[in-house]
Amino acid sequence: MSEPRRLLVAGANGKMGRALLPLLEARVDVEIVGRVGRGDDLRAALQASRPTFVLDVTTPDVVAEHARVALEEGAHVIVATTGLPEAQRPALDRLARERQRGLLVAPNLSPVVVLLQAAARRLVPYVPRVEILESHHEAKRDAPSGTSRATARQLAEAGARPGPDRGDPTPRGLDVDGVRVHSMRLPGLHARQEVRMASEHEGVMLVHEAYGREAYLAGVLLALDRLPDHVGWVDGLEALL
Ligand SMILES: NC(=O)c1ccc[n+]([C@@H]2O[C@H](COP(=O)([O-])OP(=O)(O)OC[C@H]3O[C@@H](n4cnc5c(N)ncnc54)[C@H](OP(=O)(O)O)[C@@H]3O)[C@@H](O)[C@H]2O)c1
Repeated sequence: MSEPRRLLVAGANGKMGRALLPLLEARVDVEIVGRVGRGDDLRAALQASRPTFVLDVTTPDVVAEHARVALEEGAHVIVATTGLPEAQRPALDRLARERQRGLLVAPNLSPVVVLLQAAARRLVPYVPRVEILESHHEAKRDAPSGTSRATARQLAEAGARPGPDRGDPTPRGLDVDGVRVHSMRLPGLHARQEVRMASEHEGVMLVHEAYGREAYLAGVLLALDRLPDHVGWVDGLEALL
């Protein structure tokens, strides 16, 4: 068997870190060589543990700096943290190319969500009116979710058509490039995205539900397998599927 992949997790004490670490530790093909939390020195941890991969599950204010430091220290980087500013893209892409490393920026690490988005894009020509309803636990910091915004943008690019503006716009959700996105926040909910699509004559509903953060393990494992075949900024898990 080949050597286990050496992984450092940044944001190890957060909800994602705590959910994924035991699953990753239980695998024989992965070795957790570092865990970094707030207040720890990422560069020192990287120099001490020399991981092949860094998984970042932190916060939008630190993720760009983490990606830069991890690339400088020679790791492939899996960014699961949402909100990495697009303005950082040219510099991080250049750095990753200089170091011959892959930088996966995956706002959603569930292959199932990525495949749902791909299926929805293919359906748009036949059912071009689209609305999205997403629901999450009430501690979620952003609304609408990064995933639902991304789905809306993708479907708008694929030709989704806005509906008529009638009545008070407030309850009609956020207009993301002409696609309405509705957000629900309640205690106890896990991530759910419902994409409703219709024409005059037929409709379809695509629903994804994550029953826990463990749903994101498959994307991490995919990245450990396939990211080393890529150099530079990689846009979303889809590029690895
Ligand atoms: N890509 C995906 O599929 C996916 C899925 C779920 C979530 N996410 C994203 O992943 C990120 C983490 O989510 P979460 O639910 O785990 O959030 P969370 O519970 O708030 O965890 C974030 C963790 O990062 C820590 N942190 C902050 N600054 C740090 C630093 N400089 N160095 C190391 N750790 C630092 C925080 O420490 P403190 O506790 O001290 O603040 C916290 O433990 C969010 O951006 C979320 O949107 C992505």
